[in-house]
Amino acid sequence: MILFEWSADYEIGIPEIDAQHRGLVNMLNDLHVAMKAGKGSEAVQKTVERLLSYTQQHFEAEEWAMKQAHYPEFAKHHKAHLALTTKVVEMLGAGGALPTFELLNFLNDWLKKHIGQTDREFGDFIRARRNATLSPPPL
Ligand SMILES: [Fe+2]
Repeated sequence: MILFEWSADYEIGIPEIDAQHRGLVNMLNDLHVAMKAGKGSEAVQKTVERLLSYTQQHFEAEEWAMKQAHYPEFAKHHKAHLALTTKVVEMLGAGGALPTFELLNFLNDWLKKHIGQTDREFGDFIRARRNATLSPPPL
């Protein structure tokens, strides 16, 4: 069974961000497969490192777009990203331990909620602004 089945419901309407979210979901599913298959610790380690570094890059890209758009909820959103990063570092420990299924489930739940809600708010903001820009001034 696929851990995180992507659907159009998760699209927030910003193509670059949607593509990155799909990338994240694919990597999370790869990690799930590797862990379930009991693949050697090296393979699991590599997969989780790939996922975490892509997550960081994605957060930076998303926050860059928010700053560009003068998004009023930027501080709140940045805090949510920071909280996730802190929690993952805490769960993996300083020694960079292997991910547990608890961490995998936590990431899965967090990502579904964050994309479905918090990121969607940004997508809605961008679309509303775009539409406003496209509307001709009243006669
Ligand atoms: Fe986000």
